Amino acid sequence: MRILFICSEYEGLIKTGGLADACRGLASSLLAAGHQVSVILPRYGALYNVATEAETSVFVELGGQQYGCAVRSTKLHGVALHLVEHHDFFARERPYDDGQHGYADNPLRFAFFCKVAIAWAARQQAFDVLHGHDWQSAPAAFYLHQHQQHNQRLHSPHSLVGVPFVFTIHNGAYQQQCDAGWAPQLGLPIHQQAAQDGYYHELNFLQIALQYATKINTVSQGYRDELLSEPAANGLAGWYQQRQLDFSGILNGCDYQLWDPATDQSISANYNAGDLTGKATCKRQLQQQCQLTQSNGPLLVAVSRVTGQKGYDILIPALKHVLSHYPVQVVIVGSGEASYCQQLHQLTVVFPDKFRFIEGFNEQLAHQVEAAGDFFLMPSLFEPCGLNQLYSLRYGTLPLVRLTGGLKDTVVPWPNNMATGIGFAEPNTEALLEALRQALTLYQDQPAYKKIQQRAMSQSFSWSDASEQYLALYQQAVDAAAATL
Ligand code: ADP
Ligand code: GLC
Repeated sequence: MRILFICSEYEGLIKTGGLADACRGLASSLLAAGHQVSVILPRYGALYNVATEAETSVFVELGGQQYGCAVRSTKLHGVALHLVEHHDFFARERPYDDGQHGYADNPLRFAFFCKVAIAWAARQQAFDVLHGHDWQSAPAAFYLHQHQQHNQRLHSPHSLVGVPFVFTIHNGAYQQQCDAGWAPQLGLPIHQQAAQDGYYHELNFLQIALQYATKINTVSQGYRDELLSEPAANGLAGWYQQRQLDFSGILNGCDYQLWDPATDQSISANYNAGDLTGKATCKRQLQQQCQLTQSNGPLLVAVSRVTGQKGYDILIPALKHVLSHYPVQVVIVGSGEASYCQQLHQLTVVFPDKFRFIEGFNEQLAHQVEAAGDFFLMPSLFEPCGLNQLYSLRYGTLPLVRLTGGLKDTVVPWPNNMATGIGFAEPNTEALLEALRQALTLYQDQPAYKKIQQRAMSQSFSWSDASEQYLALYQQAVDAAAATL
């Protein structure tokens, strides 16, 4: 199949979270299975150093205004990469925000990106399926529909006849909602939604894709089921229900080429399930690097976007308690909301021998922390899939997770006799504290801990399983689109 990804992040180029890992992991796996994969994404400031070989000029009209840009192409690990270059919209270091606030022109930037993606794809005559990822690609579902309708009306043959749009929700909480006043400028339809006190009008990018995509999926079966009702659906449950028969869950894979402690070049010593000496070295190394005492007690770690989603409201009070009462150490790497970051910095001051918060986005450190920890903390309030728990399983760093979405689908909680980690259900500090106590108890019983560690390391969440399911979904989408011709 010839597949075009329309996405805003790609591992190795630009990344703020798991979206980047998932796009690259799936693309690589489809490529390995013999399919042609192309990826179109904005040329952010950070991508101006990517050398390109070919250039196409593209002109589009949005809400009566004409815009021009260049689409510059190259190859990256066998994937055809196409970068949409528009200086004013995209030549900024960070993709979506200035570090504090989302860019005010995000609706225009990403509507433009989608319009260009469709106009460019129409000229290529090269795709069997278009695959959009998250809200940043959502308007493309509508622009494709519009393009197809327009050409059908004119009886004009065009290269996107019968080409379906598959839409993957990596995170249903990010929707890009904006005032209906944007609609004419973006040439997008307005969503009329019942509110408690009557009707209000708004433009919601995610909703547009739920309405116009041929097929919809999200990144775990658990999260798919959660999205069918509120509050998980963040106001869009009706739309998920309406598309229920076209809506599936496909669990992400783990890219073991990049995340394997036996070969990882970023960690101080390699190791595998048969010989964990290297893991002990990684722990000592991280303690040294963070100027923590060389304690043999459990080291709890986390690497994440520092947002409400990741459970910081329940985690910070729980950490204060365990740091005060138990011989544990904690290292957190992350960046995000200022109020949480301040509280985490404060913990470093209060517990200088036991706690470190390293603020920032640091990929090498993320690997080192995965390798060094004894437990990986993911007390997420919701988690569409989660990749860090998959990395943690392979690195023998037992995930301690809230049993929600993809976390529930991938971690078997202790004391189940097939346990691979620790779990808790209720999203509150007490429940998390109970899970932390379980982790500390388990750690004291080293034979039991090691048995679970071995089982965790032998888990496999391959992208090839996921890509087979995506191929089946693409085929269903092609059939569904053909049936409407
Ligand atoms: P999400 O996509 O919601 O952020 P995932 O668990 O799916 O959560 O993926 C997060 C990805 O982003 C992982 O690869 C993780 O290592 C990486 N990551 C998150 N924060 C940081 C950070 N501060 N530094 C380096 N990598 C990070
Ligand atoms: C999102 C989700 C995360 C998921 C990732 C990749 O950012 O928050 O759970 O693993 O996308 O699909």
